[in-house]
Amino acid sequence: MIGFWAPAPRLIDDAAPEDLPHIAEIHRASFTQEWTVDELAALLSQPGVTALVVRRASWWTSPRPIGFLLLRVAADEAEILTVAVHPSNRRGGVGRSLVAEALRRLYADRVATVFLEVAADNEAALAIYRRLGFTMVGERPAYYSGTGAGGGLALVMRCDLG
Ligand SMILES: CC(C)(COP(=O)(O)OP(=O)(O)OC[C@H]1O[C@@H](n2cnc3c(N)ncnc32)[C@H](O)[C@@H]1OP(=O)(O)O)[C@@H](O)C(=O)NCCC(=O)NCCS
Repeated sequence: MIGFWAPAPRLIDDAAPEDLPHIAEIHRASFTQEWTVDELAALLSQPGVTALVVRRASWWTSPRPIGFLLLRVAADEAEILTVAVHPSNRRGGVGRSLVAEALRRLYADRVATVFLEVAADNEAALAIYRRLGFTMVGERPAYYSGTGAGGGLALVMRCDLG
């Protein structure tokens, strides 16, 4: 039986146009570079680009996204362009569930290989990618403008689904 105080269930869904302001807000809270709703809409209008959102159902509010993931698919290869979870919802498995669902959908669509780039000092993202089977295949020095311990180094990671 689900008790009254049980956490609300999560749902992973394709993003709808009305989600874009919430995605922009999560992006603003997660990265130094801002993406406007218009920029997100332009990105999502490109061939092969799609977005997943995680919603948390609630009795009191409409199920707004608490995290999102952007993907680009071309033939049998895909790239995870970005993934972010609202700061107030982190460390609860939301990020991992988003990436896992993206991989599940890509596998079902017969995508063979998934790539991504991640800052070398992004421990949270690296924990997710490694656990889900991504391995490092390259480095891009000074790719990110961050001044943290990673010195802007980006890792290129790959996951074979086939
Ligand atoms: C990266 C991000 C999406 C992770 O989302 P999340 O919902 O907090 O992650 P999860 O709760 O699913 O945690 C997944 C793993 O990361 C680990 N983790 C989460 N936050 C961490 C942190 N701050 N430091 C170290 N490890 C962390 C968890 O322990 C877990 O590890 P496990 O699988 O070994 O148990 C989130 O931190 C975020 O939005 N960051 C800002 C945007 C960003 O950097 N995106 C990645 C771009 S490539």
